[in-house]
Amino acid sequence: MTAPDGDPPVPGLRSRLAAAVGPDHVLTDPAVTMSYGTDWTGRWRARPLAVVRPGSTAEVAATIRVCADAGVPVVPQGGNTGLVGGSVPRGDGRMVVLSTRRLATVGPLDRGTRSLVVGAGASLSDVHRAAARVGLRYAVDLAARDSATVGGTVATNAAGLRALGLGDTRRQVVGVEAVLADGTVVDDVTGPPAGRDGFPLAGLLCGSEGTLAVITAARLRLGAPPAVPPVTLLVGLASPADALALLDQPGLTAAELLLRPGLELVCRVGGLPDPLPRAWPAYLLLEVEGEPVLPDDVDAVVDPRVWAYREGMTDAIATLGIPHKLDVALPVDAVPAFVAELPAVVTPFAVHPFGHLGVGNVHVNVVDVGSGPGRDPDRAGLDAVDERVVRLVHRHGGAVAAEHGIGVAKVQWVGPDPVRTRLKRALDPAGLLNPGVATSMR
Ligand code: FAD
Ligand code: MLT
Ligand code: ZN
Repeated sequence: MTAPDGDPPVPGLRSRLAAAVGPDHVLTDPAVTMSYGTDWTGRWRARPLAVVRPGSTAEVAATIRVCADAGVPVVPQGGNTGLVGGSVPRGDGRMVVLSTRRLATVGPLDRGTRSLVVGAGASLSDVHRAAARVGLRYAVDLAARDSATVGGTVATNAAGLRALGLGDTRRQVVGVEAVLADGTVVDDVTGPPAGRDGFPLAGLLCGSEGTLAVITAARLRLGAPPAVPPVTLLVGLASPADALALLDQPGLTAAELLLRPGLELVCRVGGLPDPLPRAWPAYLLLEVEGEPVLPDDVDAVVDPRVWAYREGMTDAIATLGIPHKLDVALPVDAVPAFVAELPAVVTPFAVHPFGHLGVGNVHVNVVDVGSGPGRDPDRAGLDAVDERVVRLVHRHGGAVAAEHGIGVAKVQWVGPDPVRTRLKRALDPAGLLNPGVATSMR
């Protein structure tokens, strides 16, 4: 088992990891481990030194201690649906991927606080099912719900499709259990939810992208479902600017922008019919808990199935080639002008902007059309375009990183800051946890 930087094998690492989690849960065959070493988009790939699959918090702690003793960096990984390169190793044979997928327990509902403790490896869909079983709902939802895990959504502070009306992950997390870089277990989830052993850690770890601790469980707040089913509709727009007037809706939980080329791509890839009688330059998907307020002459279809046009975007774009995904935040009113300037900025590549207009979170997907799934032949060209998009974001008063986090994709643009670097140095002085990710330490 070669060590970081290709040094001679780390003596006894595999046997010590096997002693920590059992030999069946230490994977070293590249034919198996490469799937853990390749991110969802295919843009970041590196062979893990090993993949370790602990089955308990104690096994996570034991794994961390073995890696810390050996000086081997650890990449915490949940569903590996992250889109900024933070869930896979940097460099072949250098880092251990610690997969949380076996930590998938879902605890009982605490009736008083309407919260429950869920293992980090449970999927979002597991949480949605547990909430539905007790007549409640979990606010965070995203198209990768069957794979994205509780630990990953806490670590990235995932926002998702209903963040506008229901908030991002940070708004749902009441407490966390986690393992620090020296194997110490911190526990804010056991005992009465109102109990306190110190200041809450959830806020510190939410959005930490695996750089401060390995989250092993979280206490999540559930909410009451709407009294009446929400109304979901897709509205045809002459331009994205026309969407802004539709955002003043009482009870609005989602407002998702699509453009015609993206919608045509989803229809082609997904075999979907055109949703409206005529083609529109832009579309707004609205979900309203109540009666939508619309102009008289609007062209719209009211049907919850219109979500398929929105949720199909990521997979559809991936069929064109490996996209450079710039998930950015803008003042909502600036989105139409920003989107209008994108094609000139990204030429000669294609761009598919879409996303969470209601909160000003736009997904800019730049792709070398025709390269085909899994290929990005002109990576240097795409890297240069990223720079141009970032400058455009700043010209419109935006921020380069939003719900997907910073990962390795945005590190060059989101500088280190002294507070986060001090926290990182205090909690992970050896830089063991996810080195190179986010702003915390470089
Ligand atoms: P991973 O990809 O495994 O990891 C993501 C990051 O979290 C990494 O830095 C990793 O080190 C860290 N991490 C993972 N688990 C832990 C843990 N237990 N402890 C500490 N660190 C950990 N994101 C959104 O915010 N909104 C969306 O609407 C959305 N839609 C998506 C749609 C599709 C089709 C896809 C493929 C992705 C989408 N994403 C979206 C991105 C992704 O699903 C989220 O970032 C999600 O939070 C990642 O969860 P995961 O379990 O896959 O984490
Ligand atoms: C989404 O909102 O669909 C996701 O964030 C995925 C993406 O940006 O592709
Ligand atoms: Zn999104």
